[in-house]
Amino acid sequence: MRIVALVGSNRKESYNRKITSFIQERYKEKVEIEILPIENLPLYNQDDELTPPAVVNEIKRKVLASEGILIATPEYNHSIPALLKNALDWFSRVEKVMVRKPVMIVGASGGVLGTARAQMHLRQILNSPGCAALTLPGNEVFIGGVQDKLDEFGKLTHEPTIQFLDTVMNNFVNWVEKTKGI
Ligand code: FNR
Repeated sequence: MRIVALVGSNRKESYNRKITSFIQERYKEKVEIEILPIENLPLYNQDDELTPPAVVNEIKRKVLASEGILIATPEYNHSIPALLKNALDWFSRVEKVMVRKPVMIVGASGGVLGTARAQMHLRQILNSPGCAALTLPGNEVFIGGVQDKLDEFGKLTHEPTIQFLDTVMNNFVNWVEKTKGI
């Protein structure tokens, strides 16, 4: 199964990127995950949507060719970061590459809510006509207090979180199969 991943953080030591790398490695027998460099996308401008810069088309083609999308989002001021919203805005216009794509969401933060508010917004955005993605219902992966759940190399070691991720990834793989042809 070929999945693309969008990480909503461009900082070098991003927890959300570390969680994504963990997922990429742990489930590599089942799912091939490519992290797309959405930080390279220019700021969305409607004037350019019919003739976008090459990088926009390159990334959109990869989304379109994928069987599903993993999104790892930080929470910025109770919503998703502009970096991620920018990517979704590009993906939602002209050739709408997220339509009927299965999506799995995870999010990590230092706080106790573990990006719950951002993920609520994200589900709403993904349900818009431009995105119209098939977000995996339930399966809410809120990784709060993330700094205490990684080892000194930045690898997730918190067993309950790992076990929940195993369940959710399994549910997502089934969701991708179930939604084929919808
Ligand atoms: C944050 N952070 C944050 N955390 C949270 O739980 N709720 C929030 O609303 C916010 N708001 C917020 C705004 C901005 C502009 C920044 C830079 C940060 C903290 C955030 O969760 C923390 O920096 C994470 O580590 C960001 O994710 P990455 O970059 O580690 O993946």
